[in-house]
Parts: sequence; C-alpha cells; structure tokens
Amino acid sequence: MKYNFDEINNRLGTYCTQWDYIEDRFGEKDLLPFSISDTDFKIPHPITKKILEVSKRELYGYSRWNHSDFKGSICSFYERRHNCKLNQDWIVYSPSVMYSVSLLIRILSKPGDEVVTFNPMYDSFFTVIEDNKRKLISHNLLKVNGTFEIDFTILENQLSSAKLLLLCAPHNPTGRIWTKEEMDKIIDLCKKYEVKIISDEIHMDLHLKNRKHIPLLSYKDSYDEIYTASSCSKTLNVPGLGGSYVIIPNEKVKEDFLHNTRKVDFLNSPSIFGMYATMVGYTECDDYIDQLNEYIKENMRFVKEYLDKYLPDFKFEIPDGTYLAWIDARDVPFSTEEIQDALVHVGKVAIMKGETYGENGTKYLRLNCGCPKSKLEEGLSRMKKAMDWLYSNQKKEG
Ligand SMILES: Cc1ncc(COP(=O)(O)O)c(C=O)c1O
Repeated sequence: MKYNFDEINNRLGTYCTQWDYIEDRFGEKDLLPFSISDTDFKIPHPITKKILEVSKRELYGYSRWNHSDFKGSICSFYERRHNCKLNQDWIVYSPSVMYSVSLLIRILSKPGDEVVTFNPMYDSFFTVIEDNKRKLISHNLLKVNGTFEIDFTILENQLSSAKLLLLCAPHNPTGRIWTKEEMDKIIDLCKKYEVKIISDEIHMDLHLKNRKHIPLLSYKDSYDEIYTASSCSKTLNVPGLGGSYVIIPNEKVKEDFLHNTRKVDFLNSPSIFGMYATMVGYTECDDYIDQLNEYIKENMRFVKEYLDKYLPDFKFEIPDGTYLAWIDARDVPFSTEEIQDALVHVGKVAIMKGETYGENGTKYLRLNCGCPKSKLEEGLSRMKKAMDWLYSNQKKEG
C-alpha cells in the first residue's frame, strides 16, 4: 500500500497537544508548531480498519493483554525488523513508556542512588530521575565532527558509583543510533560496575543512514540486567490510543512490575484500541514504516539543503535516526532568547530550544520533521524571516 505523507491533516480543534496547546510552551497562539514529538501523519490503514471494526461492536469492557496475540506481535516485530529474538514471557504491558521508566527506576534502585543519563536528553529523563528522589548524574555528550559521542573515560568514572544507566537508544534529541562498538563498551562498563540498564527504545524504527538500531536485549546472553521500555506509538503515531510495553527477562523484577501495575497503580487493563494498534502495527504495517523512513530521510535532506543555503550560521547534519532535527545554533550571533523571541513573534513558528534538553543542549534547536514537506518548507521560511529580521536589526544598530 502506498501512503501519502504529503497530505495535510488539520489537527486544530482536536485537543491536540502540538497544535491546540502550543501557547502553553511558547506563550503565543497561532504558531506553526514543530514541538512535541508526534507526527502530523495519518496512521497505517490496517490499524484504522481494525479500529473501525472494533468500534462497530460498541463494546468497551475491561480487556486483557496477557496473551500471545499481543506478546507474540512484539516478539515477531523484534525478530523480523530488529533481528532480536525475545521470549514472550518477558513482555509486559505498560500504559506508557515513561510510566515504565519511572516504575523501573523505583524497582531497581533506592532513593538517593545515582542514575546516569546523557545530556542533552529527552527532558522527562531528568525529571523522572529527580522526582523519584534519585541523584541525577549527567553525562555530557561531546560534539565531534558534527556528531555526538560518549566520553568513555568520564562515563566509566560516573558508572563506578552508580546504580542505574538510563539510556535513550536511539537518542532524543541528537538522533544518534549508538554503534555496536559503543554498545559493547556501555555493556562492558555496566557489567564491570554492576549498573543496571533501563533502555528506552521508543525511537527504534527510524534509521536515516546505513546504521540500524541494535536492541539492547541483543546483549541479554552477556549481561542480564537490561530492561527495555518501548512502544509503537512514535513510529505509527498512535500515542493518543494509549499503551506500550516493557521487556523484562528477570522474573523477580517482572513480578514486581506486574504487582505495581495491578495492585498499587491499578493500570493493568489496556485500552483496546492501543492494544490493537500494537498487534496490527507490528504485524501488518511494515510498508508504512519503510515509506515513513524514506519520507523522513527526504525531509532531513531538505532541512540540510535549506539551512546550508539560506541560514549557514545554523549547522546541521542529518541524524542517524528519529524524526528530530538537532540544529546547532552556536555560531549564530544572537542569544537563545533573541532567537526564540524572533522565531515566535516575527516568524510565528514554534521550534524547541535546545536548553529544554539540558545545559549541554544550549544554543541548539530541535525541529520535529515528522510532518508533510510543505509544512517544513513553510516552517523554514518562517525561520528565515525571523533570522533576516534579527540580522537586519543588527546591521541598523551596527
Ligand atoms: C525518548 C522518549 N521516551 C518516551 C517518550 C514518551 O513516551 P510515552 O508517552 O509512552 O511515555 C518520548 C516522547 O517524546 C520520547 O522521546
């Protein structure tokens, strides 16, 4: 089936976080939004078909996820698309990826324990560590030749006293897909210092260059303290349907997780639509995922071409994965506040500032490219309008 990702879908008036509530983040309405990470694309047809079929029944009682239709769909997807063999018994439903991360932190560590995570980082990682009263240890990624690298000497030092590593693989916001060599080293260090790994792999399906994501659980035979949280929600644009999953090979931790979802938080009955989205999405929608990959690649190429040509002070390299463009504005001769002010008030465009993702993200921008190319064209021309205004004011003042 051929998908039309060029189609413009009006999301205004749908209680949509990205479009209807942009004022919450940027203080202004009527901005063209490139903010929160969901896409403007319609979902794959087989999921729509299933949702219509289910809604015709008009029956929405409690439902169960603990069956091989749900768990098997996840195993088959990992094996088919990620070359990673999982056991169905390791799979547990969870209402959201960040719920899983938060609960795993509580199960695997104690208040005051050190948890290492990279910086810049998806902002909820910082708060989930601190709000669970763990000590946040930020590992600053190094920018080397347009890419972001781990400083393994510093990381080793940090891991030597930590309890947990909270990993984002692939990485939001830089779009890095960690290489096999990097993953080998991470596993070796975590083994050496008995640091448990929580791996958030929600961005695992988009790969824009020749490197593919390696699920951390591929290392299960050499290290058995790996806990993965993921979902089809980013790739298939279904976070509004609810649901995700965790993969927990350790029986005791799995029982603890289940106990919490069932008897402490009462969150164990899945949304029927979310569960079908995973089952259908992971068995019948490979064509959508392949075409989405191609579309995002093209969008990224377009962003690169545009910035190189019209806004050369902004440095951008196409990322390994994700639909997030992480743009370096450090050579731009204005402060973050000046840039944001011009983007919002002159360009009328909402692009996330890098500081949101930690201090090591200072003077970057995160542009969500999960949208029709025409929206990206409009967004970049608004960005140019804002920057032209800043540069011309600078000239006048000079
Ligand atoms: C790395 C990462 N993890 C988790 C989430 C959120 O997932 P969920 O809504 O299932 O908690 C996001 C959303 O942007 C994300 O980028």
